[in-house]
Amino acid sequence: MTSNAWRQPNVDDCTISLRLDGAGSPPPDRSYAIHVGSGTLGQLGSLLAAGGSRRAMVIADAAVVDPHATAVVTGLKQAGLETDLLTVPSGESSKSLAEAGRLWESLAQLGIDRQTVVIAVGGGVVGDLAGFVAAGFARGIPCWQVPTTLVAQVDSAIGGKTGINLTAGKNLVGAFWQPQGVLADIDTLATLPDREFTSGLAEVVKYGMILDAEFFAWLEDNATAIINREPPAIGHIVRRSAELKAHVVERDEREQTGLRACLNYGHTFAHAFETATGYGTLLHGEAVALGMVAAARLAYSLDRIDEAIVDRQYRLLEQLCLPVVTDTLAGISDETLLAIMARDKKTLNGQLRFVLPNRIGQVELVDGVSPAAAAGAFHAVRVQQLN
Ligand SMILES: NC(=O)c1ccc[n+]([C@@H]2O[C@H](COP(=O)([O-])OP(=O)(O)OC[C@H]3O[C@@H](n4cnc5c(N)ncnc54)[C@H](O)[C@@H]3O)[C@@H](O)[C@H]2O)c1
Ligand SMILES: [Zn+2]
Repeated sequence: MTSNAWRQPNVDDCTISLRLDGAGSPPPDRSYAIHVGSGTLGQLGSLLAAGGSRRAMVIADAAVVDPHATAVVTGLKQAGLETDLLTVPSGESSKSLAEAGRLWESLAQLGIDRQTVVIAVGGGVVGDLAGFVAAGFARGIPCWQVPTTLVAQVDSAIGGKTGINLTAGKNLVGAFWQPQGVLADIDTLATLPDREFTSGLAEVVKYGMILDAEFFAWLEDNATAIINREPPAIGHIVRRSAELKAHVVERDEREQTGLRACLNYGHTFAHAFETATGYGTLLHGEAVALGMVAAARLAYSLDRIDEAIVDRQYRLLEQLCLPVVTDTLAGISDETLLAIMARDKKTLNGQLRFVLPNRIGQVELVDGVSPAAAAGAFHAVRVQQLN
Protein backbone atom coordinates (compact mmCIF):
# COMPACT_ATOMS: atom_id res chain seq x y z
CA MET A 1 0.00 0.00 0.00
CA THR A 2 1.54 3.36 -1.00
CA SER A 3 1.40 6.27 1.39
CA ASN A 4 -1.31 8.01 -0.56
CA ALA A 5 -3.55 5.01 -1.17
CA TRP A 6 -7.01 5.29 0.35
CA ARG A 7 -6.75 3.06 3.39
CA GLN A 8 -9.34 0.53 4.41
CA PRO A 9 -12.03 2.45 6.23
CA ASN A 10 -12.36 1.96 9.99
CA VAL A 11 -15.40 0.01 11.10
CA ASP A 12 -16.86 3.32 12.17
CA ASP A 13 -16.07 5.30 9.04
CA CYS A 14 -19.01 5.95 6.78
CA THR A 15 -20.00 7.95 3.75
CA ILE A 16 -23.32 9.74 3.51
CA SER A 17 -24.60 10.78 0.07
CA LEU A 18 -26.29 14.13 -0.37
CA ARG A 19 -28.13 14.01 -3.69
CA LEU A 20 -28.82 17.20 -5.65
CA ASP A 21 -29.66 17.82 -9.28
CA GLY A 22 -28.03 20.69 -11.09
CA ALA A 23 -29.54 23.68 -12.82
CA GLY A 24 -29.63 23.89 -16.62
CA SER A 25 -29.95 21.21 -19.22
CA PRO A 26 -28.56 18.60 -18.96
CA PRO A 27 -28.20 19.20 -15.24
CA PRO A 28 -24.70 18.71 -13.87
CA ASP A 29 -24.79 16.42 -10.87
CA ARG A 30 -24.14 18.46 -7.73
CA SER A 31 -24.46 15.50 -5.38
CA TYR A 32 -21.64 14.98 -2.94
CA ALA A 33 -20.40 12.71 -0.21
CA ILE A 34 -20.02 13.47 3.49
CA HIS A 35 -17.22 11.31 4.86
CA VAL A 36 -17.44 10.79 8.61
CA GLY A 37 -14.56 8.93 10.17
CA SER A 38 -11.71 9.02 12.61
CA GLY A 39 -8.10 9.77 11.72
CA THR A 40 -9.04 10.51 8.12
CA LEU A 41 -7.63 14.04 7.57
CA GLY A 42 -4.56 12.73 5.76
CA GLN A 43 -6.70 10.87 3.23
CA LEU A 44 -8.26 13.96 1.65
CA GLY A 45 -5.33 14.11 -0.78
CA SER A 46 -6.02 10.64 -2.19
CA LEU A 47 -9.73 11.43 -2.46
CA LEU A 48 -9.02 14.60 -4.45
CA ALA A 49 -6.34 13.00 -6.60
CA ALA A 50 -8.75 10.17 -7.44
CA GLY A 51 -11.24 12.83 -8.57
CA GLY A 52 -8.64 14.38 -10.90
CA SER A 53 -7.65 17.46 -8.84
CA ARG A 54 -4.12 18.78 -9.29
CA ARG A 55 -4.06 21.89 -7.11
CA ALA A 56 -5.45 22.74 -3.67
CA MET A 57 -5.82 25.96 -1.72
CA VAL A 58 -6.25 25.25 1.98
CA ILE A 59 -7.89 28.06 3.96
CA ALA A 60 -7.59 27.31 7.65
CA ASP A 61 -8.50 28.80 11.01
CA ALA A 62 -5.18 29.90 12.55
CA ALA A 63 -6.03 27.89 15.68
CA VAL A 64 -6.20 24.58 13.82
CA VAL A 65 -3.18 24.89 11.53
CA ASP A 66 -1.28 22.71 13.94
CA PRO A 67 -2.11 19.85 13.89
CA HIS A 68 -5.26 19.61 11.73
CA ALA A 69 -4.59 21.76 8.65
CA THR A 70 -1.00 20.54 8.59
CA ALA A 71 -2.26 16.94 8.41
CA VAL A 72 -4.50 17.89 5.49
CA VAL A 73 -1.68 19.73 3.68
CA THR A 74 0.73 16.82 4.17
CA GLY A 75 -1.81 14.37 2.74
CA LEU A 76 -2.51 16.62 -0.25
CA LYS A 77 1.19 16.99 -1.05
CA GLN A 78 1.78 13.25 -0.67
CA ALA A 79 -1.03 12.66 -3.14
CA GLY A 80 0.81 14.89 -5.62
CA LEU A 81 -1.34 18.04 -5.41
CA GLU A 82 0.30 21.45 -5.61
CA THR A 83 -0.87 22.91 -2.29
CA ASP A 84 -0.90 26.38 -0.70
CA LEU A 85 -2.10 27.33 2.77
CA LEU A 86 -3.73 30.59 3.85
CA THR A 87 -4.72 31.19 7.45
CA VAL A 88 -7.58 33.21 8.87
CA PRO A 89 -7.63 34.67 12.40
CA SER A 90 -9.98 32.73 14.71
CA GLY A 91 -13.34 34.22 15.57
CA GLU A 92 -16.57 35.55 14.12
CA SER A 93 -14.94 38.86 13.12
CA SER A 94 -13.15 37.01 10.29
CA LYS A 95 -16.50 36.50 8.53
CA SER A 96 -16.02 39.97 7.05
CA LEU A 97 -15.83 41.65 3.69
CA ALA A 98 -12.26 42.72 4.55
CA GLU A 99 -11.17 39.11 5.17
CA ALA A 100 -12.97 37.83 2.06
CA GLY A 101 -11.27 40.59 0.04
CA ARG A 102 -7.86 39.72 1.44
CA LEU A 103 -8.37 36.06 0.51
CA TRP A 104 -9.58 36.90 -3.01
CA GLU A 105 -6.47 39.07 -3.56
CA SER A 106 -4.26 36.24 -2.30
CA LEU A 107 -5.93 33.71 -4.61
CA ALA A 108 -5.36 36.04 -7.55
CA GLN A 109 -1.70 36.59 -6.62
CA LEU A 110 -1.16 32.83 -6.32
CA GLY A 111 -2.58 32.33 -9.81
CA ILE A 112 -5.47 30.16 -8.59
CA ASP A 113 -7.66 29.00 -11.46
CA ARG A 114 -11.00 27.24 -11.79
CA GLN A 115 -9.37 23.83 -11.50
CA THR A 116 -8.07 24.60 -8.01
CA VAL A 117 -10.04 23.24 -5.08
CA VAL A 118 -10.49 25.44 -2.02
CA ILE A 119 -10.39 23.43 1.19
CA ALA A 120 -11.90 25.01 4.31
CA VAL A 121 -10.34 23.63 7.51
CA GLY A 122 -11.92 24.93 10.70
CA GLY A 123 -15.27 25.64 12.30
CA GLY A 124 -18.32 27.36 10.89
CA VAL A 125 -16.52 30.69 10.60
CA VAL A 126 -13.88 29.43 8.19
CA GLY A 127 -16.38 27.14 6.44
CA ASP A 128 -18.78 30.01 5.75
CA LEU A 129 -15.99 32.42 4.77
CA ALA A 130 -13.93 30.06 2.59
CA GLY A 131 -17.10 28.70 0.96
CA PHE A 132 -18.16 32.24 0.12
CA VAL A 133 -14.69 33.07 -1.20
CA ALA A 134 -14.83 29.95 -3.43
CA ALA A 135 -18.34 30.87 -4.61
CA GLY A 136 -17.22 34.33 -5.70
CA PHE A 137 -13.72 33.76 -7.08
CA ALA A 138 -13.64 33.44 -10.89
CA ARG A 139 -17.45 33.12 -10.64
CA GLY A 140 -17.12 29.96 -8.61
CA ILE A 141 -14.40 27.42 -7.96
CA PRO A 142 -14.83 24.04 -6.27
CA CYS A 143 -14.62 23.76 -2.52
CA TRP A 144 -14.35 21.02 0.11
CA GLN A 145 -15.39 21.43 3.70
CA VAL A 146 -13.19 19.91 6.41
CA PRO A 147 -15.07 20.85 9.60
CA THR A 148 -13.17 20.75 12.91
CA THR A 149 -15.87 21.86 15.39
CA LEU A 150 -18.95 19.92 16.40
CA VAL A 151 -21.17 22.75 15.10
CA ALA A 152 -19.47 22.56 11.72
CA GLN A 153 -19.51 18.74 11.51
CA VAL A 154 -23.19 18.41 12.34
CA ASP A 155 -24.45 21.59 10.74
CA SER A 156 -22.58 24.37 8.98
CA ALA A 157 -20.33 22.32 6.67
CA ILE A 158 -23.36 20.58 5.14
CA GLY A 159 -25.89 22.23 2.88
CA GLY A 160 -24.04 24.91 0.95
CA LYS A 161 -24.97 28.05 2.88
CA THR A 162 -21.93 30.34 2.83
CA GLY A 163 -21.52 33.96 3.75
CA ILE A 164 -20.11 36.84 5.72
CA ASN A 165 -21.41 39.38 8.20
CA LEU A 166 -22.03 43.10 7.70
CA THR A 167 -22.07 45.73 10.42
CA ALA A 168 -25.84 45.70 9.96
CA GLY A 169 -26.16 42.02 10.83
CA LYS A 170 -24.95 38.44 10.64
CA ASN A 171 -24.86 36.44 7.39
CA LEU A 172 -26.31 39.33 5.38
CA VAL A 173 -24.18 38.64 2.31
CA GLY A 174 -23.76 35.12 1.05
CA ALA A 175 -24.30 32.47 -1.56
CA PHE A 176 -25.59 28.95 -1.84
CA TRP A 177 -22.44 27.11 -2.87
CA GLN A 178 -22.47 23.38 -2.35
CA PRO A 179 -19.12 21.80 -1.59
CA GLN A 180 -17.71 18.98 -3.73
CA GLY A 181 -17.43 16.95 -0.56
CA VAL A 182 -17.25 17.09 3.21
CA LEU A 183 -14.67 15.29 5.29
CA ALA A 184 -15.50 15.22 9.00
CA ASP A 185 -12.76 13.63 11.08
CA ILE A 186 -14.11 13.24 14.60
CA ASP A 187 -10.57 13.04 16.00
CA THR A 188 -10.24 16.79 15.36
CA LEU A 189 -12.83 17.38 18.08
CA ALA A 190 -10.36 16.14 20.71
CA THR A 191 -8.68 19.58 20.75
CA LEU A 192 -11.97 21.49 20.95
CA PRO A 193 -12.52 23.36 24.25
CA ASP A 194 -15.33 21.92 26.41
CA ARG A 195 -17.56 24.95 26.07
CA GLU A 196 -17.39 24.83 22.25
CA PHE A 197 -18.05 21.09 22.23
CA THR A 198 -21.02 21.34 24.58
CA SER A 199 -22.46 24.23 22.62
CA GLY A 200 -22.46 22.07 19.47
CA LEU A 201 -24.60 19.49 21.24
CA ALA A 202 -27.55 21.88 21.13
CA GLU A 203 -27.80 21.43 17.35
CA VAL A 204 -27.65 17.65 17.85
CA VAL A 205 -30.59 17.74 20.28
CA LYS A 206 -32.37 19.94 17.76
CA TYR A 207 -32.19 17.21 15.09
CA GLY A 208 -33.78 14.75 17.49
CA MET A 209 -36.55 17.18 18.35
CA ILE A 210 -37.38 18.15 14.77
CA LEU A 211 -36.90 14.89 12.88
CA ASP A 212 -36.03 11.77 14.82
CA ALA A 213 -37.62 10.61 18.08
CA GLU A 214 -35.49 7.46 18.10
CA PHE A 215 -32.31 9.52 17.91
CA PHE A 216 -33.63 11.74 20.72
CA ALA A 217 -34.15 8.66 22.91
CA TRP A 218 -30.66 7.44 22.01
CA LEU A 219 -29.24 10.77 23.18
CA GLU A 220 -31.11 10.39 26.47
CA ASP A 221 -29.67 6.90 26.94
CA ASN A 222 -26.12 7.91 26.02
CA ALA A 223 -25.78 11.38 27.53
CA THR A 224 -22.93 10.34 29.82
CA ALA A 225 -20.90 8.78 27.00
CA ILE A 226 -21.47 11.92 24.95
CA ILE A 227 -20.28 14.37 27.57
CA ASN A 228 -17.31 12.11 28.25
CA ARG A 229 -16.62 12.40 24.52
CA GLU A 230 -16.40 8.66 24.01
CA PRO A 231 -15.47 8.21 20.33
CA PRO A 232 -18.22 5.69 19.42
CA ALA A 233 -20.85 8.06 20.85
CA ILE A 234 -19.33 11.08 19.08
CA GLY A 235 -19.15 9.10 15.84
CA HIS A 236 -22.83 8.25 16.14
CA ILE A 237 -24.02 11.79 16.84
CA VAL A 238 -21.96 13.26 13.98
CA ARG A 239 -23.12 10.57 11.54
CA ARG A 240 -26.80 10.73 12.42
CA SER A 241 -26.88 14.54 12.52
CA ALA A 242 -25.10 14.75 9.16
CA GLU A 243 -27.59 12.27 7.68
CA LEU A 244 -30.54 14.26 8.97
CA LYS A 245 -29.17 17.56 7.72
CA ALA A 246 -28.42 16.01 4.31
CA HIS A 247 -31.97 14.63 4.18
CA VAL A 248 -33.41 18.11 4.74
CA VAL A 249 -31.06 19.85 2.27
CA GLU A 250 -31.83 17.29 -0.45
CA ARG A 251 -35.53 18.05 -0.16
CA ASP A 252 -35.39 21.83 0.30
CA GLU A 253 -31.99 23.11 -0.73
CA ARG A 254 -32.98 26.78 -0.88
CA GLU A 255 -35.48 26.98 1.96
CA GLN A 256 -38.48 27.16 -0.35
CA THR A 257 -40.86 24.51 0.97
CA GLY A 258 -40.61 25.15 4.70
CA LEU A 259 -38.74 21.91 5.43
CA ARG A 260 -35.30 23.54 5.72
CA ALA A 261 -36.87 26.29 7.82
CA CYS A 262 -37.54 23.62 10.47
CA LEU A 263 -33.79 23.63 11.13
CA ASN A 264 -34.48 27.01 12.74
CA TYR A 265 -36.20 25.34 15.69
CA GLY A 266 -35.21 27.36 18.77
CA HIS A 267 -33.37 29.85 16.60
CA THR A 268 -35.84 32.78 16.57
CA PHE A 269 -35.51 32.95 20.33
CA ALA A 270 -31.78 32.17 20.14
CA HIS A 271 -31.03 35.03 17.74
CA ALA A 272 -32.90 37.45 19.98
CA PHE A 273 -30.97 36.24 23.06
CA GLU A 274 -27.64 36.48 21.19
CA THR A 275 -28.37 39.97 19.87
CA ALA A 276 -29.75 41.31 23.15
CA THR A 277 -26.86 40.02 25.26
CA GLY A 278 -24.23 41.09 22.72
CA TYR A 279 -22.49 38.60 20.45
CA GLY A 280 -20.01 36.50 22.37
CA THR A 281 -21.83 36.50 25.72
CA LEU A 282 -23.69 33.32 24.84
CA LEU A 283 -22.21 30.88 22.36
CA HIS A 284 -24.62 30.15 19.53
CA GLY A 285 -25.40 26.63 20.75
CA GLU A 286 -26.02 27.90 24.28
CA ALA A 287 -28.51 30.41 22.87
CA VAL A 288 -30.11 27.61 20.83
CA ALA A 289 -30.50 25.44 23.94
CA LEU A 290 -32.27 28.33 25.70
CA GLY A 291 -34.25 29.00 22.52
CA MET A 292 -35.49 25.41 22.41
CA VAL A 293 -36.52 25.60 26.07
CA ALA A 294 -38.50 28.76 25.26
CA ALA A 295 -39.99 27.28 22.06
CA ALA A 296 -41.18 24.13 23.85
CA ARG A 297 -42.68 26.25 26.63
CA LEU A 298 -44.43 28.38 23.99
CA ALA A 299 -45.82 25.25 22.28
CA TYR A 300 -47.11 24.06 25.66
CA SER A 301 -48.75 27.40 26.41
CA LEU A 302 -50.50 27.21 23.03
CA ASP A 303 -51.78 23.71 23.92
CA ARG A 304 -49.78 22.11 21.15
CA ILE A 305 -47.79 19.65 23.33
CA ASP A 306 -47.93 17.95 26.72
CA GLU A 307 -45.77 19.16 29.56
CA ALA A 308 -43.96 15.79 29.46
CA ILE A 309 -42.32 16.81 26.18
CA VAL A 310 -41.18 20.14 27.61
CA ASP A 311 -39.68 18.23 30.53
CA ARG A 312 -37.92 15.57 28.44
CA GLN A 313 -36.20 18.17 26.30
CA TYR A 314 -35.28 20.22 29.40
CA ARG A 315 -33.78 17.18 31.12
CA LEU A 316 -31.76 16.10 28.08
CA LEU A 317 -30.30 19.60 27.63
CA GLU A 318 -29.43 19.66 31.32
CA GLN A 319 -27.83 16.19 31.14
CA LEU A 320 -25.67 17.41 28.26
CA CYS A 321 -24.53 20.38 30.38
CA LEU A 322 -26.30 22.92 28.17
CA PRO A 323 -27.89 26.00 29.77
CA VAL A 324 -31.65 25.79 30.37
CA VAL A 325 -31.96 29.07 32.26
CA THR A 326 -29.78 32.15 32.06
CA ASP A 327 -28.96 35.29 34.01
CA THR A 328 -27.65 36.98 30.86
CA LEU A 329 -31.15 38.30 30.14
CA ALA A 330 -31.39 40.15 33.47
CA GLY A 331 -32.07 43.81 32.75
CA ILE A 332 -33.23 43.06 29.18
CA SER A 333 -36.94 43.72 28.85
CA ASP A 334 -39.48 41.53 27.06
CA GLU A 335 -40.14 44.49 24.75
CA THR A 336 -36.48 44.62 23.68
CA LEU A 337 -36.48 40.90 22.90
CA LEU A 338 -39.78 41.13 21.01
CA ALA A 339 -38.51 44.07 18.96
CA ILE A 340 -35.42 42.08 17.94
CA MET A 341 -37.60 39.11 16.97
CA ALA A 342 -39.84 41.31 14.85
CA ARG A 343 -36.76 42.39 12.86
CA ASP A 344 -35.58 38.78 12.31
CA LYS A 345 -35.18 38.11 8.60
CA LYS A 346 -37.25 34.94 9.04
CA THR A 347 -40.36 36.79 10.21
CA LEU A 348 -43.27 36.95 7.80
CA ASN A 349 -44.49 40.53 7.19
CA GLY A 350 -43.33 41.44 10.69
CA GLN A 351 -45.57 38.74 12.27
CA LEU A 352 -43.96 36.45 14.80
CA ARG A 353 -43.29 33.03 13.32
CA PHE A 354 -41.90 30.06 15.20
CA VAL A 355 -40.94 26.46 14.56
CA LEU A 356 -42.79 24.60 17.31
CA PRO A 357 -42.84 20.92 18.27
CA ASN A 358 -45.96 18.80 17.77
CA ARG A 359 -44.20 15.92 19.50
CA ILE A 360 -40.62 14.73 19.82
CA GLY A 361 -39.39 14.16 16.26
CA GLN A 362 -41.86 16.49 14.56
CA VAL A 363 -42.18 20.27 14.27
CA GLU A 364 -44.33 22.73 12.39
CA LEU A 365 -44.00 26.37 11.28
CA VAL A 366 -46.52 28.42 13.22
CA ASP A 367 -47.42 31.96 12.13
CA GLY A 368 -49.19 34.74 13.93
CA VAL A 369 -48.04 33.95 17.47
CA SER A 370 -49.02 36.85 19.73
CA PRO A 371 -46.26 38.92 21.37
CA ALA A 372 -47.79 38.14 24.78
CA ALA A 373 -47.46 34.38 24.21
CA ALA A 374 -43.85 34.76 23.03
CA ALA A 375 -43.02 36.97 26.02
CA GLY A 376 -44.48 34.31 28.32
CA ALA A 377 -41.88 31.88 26.96
CA PHE A 378 -39.00 34.22 27.86
CA HIS A 379 -39.85 33.64 31.51
CA ALA A 380 -39.10 29.94 31.11
CA VAL A 381 -35.41 30.74 30.59
CA ARG A 382 -34.93 33.78 32.80
CA VAL A 383 -33.37 33.01 36.17
CA GLN A 384 -36.20 33.76 38.56
CA GLN A 385 -35.53 37.00 40.43
CA LEU A 386 -36.05 36.84 44.19
CA ASN A 387 -38.03 39.77 45.53
N1 LIG B 1 -23.60 27.71 6.90
C1 LIG B 1 -24.45 27.22 7.76
O1 LIG B 1 -25.39 26.51 7.40
C2 LIG B 1 -24.22 27.51 9.22
C3 LIG B 1 -24.93 26.78 10.19
C4 LIG B 1 -24.63 27.02 11.53
C5 LIG B 1 -23.68 27.96 11.88
N2 LIG B 1 -23.03 28.66 10.91
C6 LIG B 1 -22.00 29.65 11.24
O2 LIG B 1 -20.95 28.96 11.90
C7 LIG B 1 -20.27 29.86 12.76
C8 LIG B 1 -20.07 29.18 14.09
O3 LIG B 1 -19.33 28.01 13.88
P1 LIG B 1 -18.43 27.38 15.03
O4 LIG B 1 -19.22 27.23 16.25
O5 LIG B 1 -17.74 26.21 14.45
O6 LIG B 1 -17.41 28.58 15.36
P2 LIG B 1 -15.90 28.88 14.99
O7 LIG B 1 -15.57 28.55 13.61
O8 LIG B 1 -15.66 30.27 15.44
O9 LIG B 1 -15.10 27.89 15.95
C9 LIG B 1 -15.23 28.02 17.34
C10 LIG B 1 -13.86 28.16 18.01
O10 LIG B 1 -13.19 26.91 18.00
C11 LIG B 1 -11.87 27.03 17.46
N3 LIG B 1 -11.63 25.73 16.82
C12 LIG B 1 -12.13 25.24 15.67
N4 LIG B 1 -11.80 23.96 15.52
C13 LIG B 1 -11.05 23.62 16.60
C14 LIG B 1 -10.43 22.43 17.03
N5 LIG B 1 -10.57 21.28 16.35
N6 LIG B 1 -9.72 22.46 18.18
C15 LIG B 1 -9.61 23.61 18.91
N7 LIG B 1 -10.23 24.76 18.57
C16 LIG B 1 -10.91 24.75 17.43
C17 LIG B 1 -11.95 28.23 16.58
O11 LIG B 1 -10.69 28.83 16.42
C18 LIG B 1 -12.91 29.13 17.34
O12 LIG B 1 -12.20 29.82 18.34
C19 LIG B 1 -21.11 31.11 12.83
O13 LIG B 1 -20.51 32.11 12.06
C20 LIG B 1 -22.45 30.70 12.20
O14 LIG B 1 -23.10 31.77 11.56
C21 LIG B 1 -23.29 28.45 9.60
ZN1 LIG C 1 -27.77 27.01 14.80
